[in-house]
Amino acid sequence: MRDLLRKKPINRVLNDSSETATHSAHGLKKSLNVVDLTSLGIAAVLGAGIFSTIGAAAFHGGPAVSLLFVFTAIACGFSALCYAQFASTIPASGSAYTYAYASLGELVAWFIGWTLIMEYAIGNIAVAISWSDYFTALLYQYNIPFPAYFSMDFVTAKKGFELVQPLLASGLTFDQLAEQHVSQINILGYEAYRTAPKVMGFSLVGDLPAVAINIFATYIVYIGIKESKRVANAMVLLKILVVLLVIGVGAFYIQPKNLTPFAPNGLGGVLKGISGVFFAYIGFDAISTTAEECKDPKRDLPRAMFYALGICTLLYVLMSVVLTGVANYKFLNVGDPLAYVFGPEGANVPWVSAVVSGSAVIALFSVLLVFQLGQPRIWMVMGRDGLLPKKFAELHPKYKTPWFSTIITGVLVGLPCLFMNLTEVTDLTSIGTLFAFFIVCIGILFIDSSQAKFKVFYINGRWFFPFVYALVFYYICASRPDLLAGEAPLGDSIIFSAYFVLMTGILVLAVIKQWSLIPLLGATTCSYLMTELGVVNWIRFGIWLAIGAVLYFSYGYRKSLLANN
Ligand code: ALA
Repeated sequence: MRDLLRKKPINRVLNDSSETATHSAHGLKKSLNVVDLTSLGIAAVLGAGIFSTIGAAAFHGGPAVSLLFVFTAIACGFSALCYAQFASTIPASGSAYTYAYASLGELVAWFIGWTLIMEYAIGNIAVAISWSDYFTALLYQYNIPFPAYFSMDFVTAKKGFELVQPLLASGLTFDQLAEQHVSQINILGYEAYRTAPKVMGFSLVGDLPAVAINIFATYIVYIGIKESKRVANAMVLLKILVVLLVIGVGAFYIQPKNLTPFAPNGLGGVLKGISGVFFAYIGFDAISTTAEECKDPKRDLPRAMFYALGICTLLYVLMSVVLTGVANYKFLNVGDPLAYVFGPEGANVPWVSAVVSGSAVIALFSVLLVFQLGQPRIWMVMGRDGLLPKKFAELHPKYKTPWFSTIITGVLVGLPCLFMNLTEVTDLTSIGTLFAFFIVCIGILFIDSSQAKFKVFYINGRWFFPFVYALVFYYICASRPDLLAGEAPLGDSIIFSAYFVLMTGILVLAVIKQWSLIPLLGATTCSYLMTELGVVNWIRFGIWLAIGAVLYFSYGYRKSLLANN
């Protein structure tokens, strides 16, 4: 048991890190300043969330989705404060994995490293899929058709076929399908599956542009941070300008009637958007993975995280007000909502629509780049610690990048692009990332930050957390009376009971140990958001953790450097 809790001392983390960083033959190049880091953060944050998943969230929640953006930003803000303190205490690569290793021990660290794959690699599958959607739409605008079966994942196509085919067979026409609430994506899926080339009865359907863009991003990351940084900086500027264009022009087309009712589907509808909205915020933490490539990580990492998160929150809230103000929320469930609201069904300003579509292709690529950059660096540190084979830590002799990890990331992102579905991928990414945020918030309570330049301000949780606890459970009981009445679905009951037990345990410890309030608020909000992500998602997450446990006990547990020294 004590083995599982073995912690990596902070000075050892820093030694490992600086040994690699200062060794000219093997070190990563230290080239990033606060502007680069903020830019990297925005590059990671502004992406598929604001260009795509905001549409579905607005469709379910109506104009009230803007409040969900505010609430989620607050949850991310608490976590960002904890990330910032960690980054300032342990300015080394590896993000939450490294922080957990130093604060909560090896087992938790392994699971965080394992879970971060969901954030970085699985998240990047979602971004690549969205990129492909905008790219093929752009080709279409220039009358260059791209076969549907090679621009869509297998699962979506098969689902669409299974839904639409019986309806058509029963005599319905395509026009009537819309009246039956069959969405455009299902009809496209039907077409893709029906027209796809067949090999031994198997339909060849796969998202080839998503795979292609992933290969290109992998190549750029493989050849080095400097090149990646330049590309990212240029694209971020463009991305912000496009978002400002949509907000600025859209503001003149807001129709107050679209903003009422504010929450047409109630709280339940708003909460359905959690995974899409949270996905939009993921990325500010990616900055911390580049600690070894920063000029002054202790000072610049925390600053850059707040700048990136602050700028993005402002843009998201304005964007959600504009989107739901310009078009009725019922029409926003499309893959390209930003372009859509300026189309004929919205404000009808075609040039803005065209600019947005074109820029989305570039904007989404910059997100892809940052995550493709972050994942190998986490594996590199895990390889260095012996939890993964040494190969993962190897740096390229010429480019100084973790070349093997980079290639494995490329494969891990590229292959699932062919068959995984955007919503499923977004859900998985969100649950995994929220878990990582939760651990970071708890981990900060266990670390000695006396040397840190940045510290979360201390408010004694003993006096305030009981009120937060009471408020949260009052809110849950009021919004989900079925849970108290024992009428909720079994899965929901289990999830909320577990949440209750977890929070009660944290409350007791917070009172006894006088834990700091801000990390407690981060842990509470992140774990609450996790409870709202649905049973199926939890089962998948459980399976993911189980696979991780098998790998750890069969490899990392024995090979860990900490165990063998
Ligand atoms: N926040 C990133 C995006 O929205 C992951 O694409």
